[in-house]
Amino acid sequence: MPVSLSLRAGGRVAVSAAAPGARLYDLVRAAGWPLGSSCKGEGICARCGLRVLGGAELLSEESAQEVKIKGDNRLDPALVIACLRRVNAEDGALELTADYW
Ligand code: FES
Repeated sequence: MPVSLSLRAGGRVAVSAAAPGARLYDLVRAAGWPLGSSCKGEGICARCGLRVLGGAELLSEESAQEVKIKGDNRLDPALVIACLRRVNAEDGALELTADYW
């Protein structure tokens, strides 16, 4: 059973399935939700930060690159960089939002 991905914006929720290895950046864009980016998913701009509302343990670990670009761009350290994180589980429930949704 794939991971259930919920994207939340106030009272609006979109639910889809997320396969292991899928990148958050691609999942959000495939769902048709807006995602900030000026580097087109290259892990440079830190504009694709998402807030994890549930299921953080289902994601790949934070990399040194992610820590660096969040610091360089003064991003909230609690956010995850969507283009650098992947689903790292076979099942579970992952819930995400963006501060601008
Ligand atoms: S899109 Fe630029 S860091 Fe993710």
